[in-house]
Amino acid sequence: MAAKLIKGTEIREQILEEITSDVKQIKEKHGVVPGLVTILVGANPASISYVTLKIKTAHRVGFTEIQDSQPETITEAQLLALIDKYNKDESINGILVQLPLPKHIDEKKVLNAIDPDKDVDGFHPVNVGRLMIGGKEVKFPPCTPAGIQEMIVRAGVETSGAEVVVVGRSNIVGKPIANMMLQKGKGANSTVTIVHTGTKDLATHCKRADILIVAAGVPGLVKPEWIKPGACVIDVGVNRVGEKVSEKTGQKIAILRGDVDFDAAKEIAGSITPVPGGVGPMTITMLMLNTLKALKYKLGIE
Ligand code: GUN
Repeated sequence: MAAKLIKGTEIREQILEEITSDVKQIKEKHGVVPGLVTILVGANPASISYVTLKIKTAHRVGFTEIQDSQPETITEAQLLALIDKYNKDESINGILVQLPLPKHIDEKKVLNAIDPDKDVDGFHPVNVGRLMIGGKEVKFPPCTPAGIQEMIVRAGVETSGAEVVVVGRSNIVGKPIANMMLQKGKGANSTVTIVHTGTKDLATHCKRADILIVAAGVPGLVKPEWIKPGACVIDVGVNRVGEKVSEKTGQKIAILRGDVDFDAAKEIAGSITPVPGGVGPMTITMLMLNTLKALKYKLGIE
């Protein structure tokens, strides 16, 4: 039986509608809208396209948005001063510094300079700590893990008591999603295992998973025989494996492949995210939700 597809593109539309409606209500009642600034250093083409989409989405849901582009040559001190300016700006609720930064800038120092109450990426150590504590302490869950959890919940997959296996231990996806799924509460309360490059037998662990979350960055790593029949499979991998010419635009576009052998896996899994169109669209959506939350916390309405 073919698995149910968990489509990030559809869930994104539902959540963006919800955010747009919330923004309208807050504007009517409080006379303000969320403000998001994205800081882009240099001209990395992937970063430009991510930031452009973030700003476009912020505009769509009714935020005020600033795209602050800085030259590759900006000094660390200048970038820190810019962050300080936005930390103090009352109209800005969310600050996002697009990564990666040029080598002469200490990324950790920059992320640590963002006011934790405007850290809508959830990368500041204060927010990492809040996530670890869980419950009401959590202010800004990092966007990709937050998107994954939202997809699991909206797909109606039972998480309480479920065996969750996370493949990958990155600070952006693996560690935070594992932490989120083990907390008490809705969309969590799972028994969690993290497997990684040091794990002896990946297959044995994966076969046990009721929910398998794969964020390894290795195309086709997870084989169909590693999947428990009926499991929910979340593929976070977005691997560029080649290029093709778009039939629509005639332009060259990347061929993307996930970390899971999708065609075979969909015959075994109960539900599965496609690549592209699965987890990808959720990350920017959750960034919008975090920015909305930042304003709500400030207004004392959440
Ligand atoms: N670069 C790639 N992904 C991300 C992300 O989620 N946030 C930021 N700030 N930079 C990124």
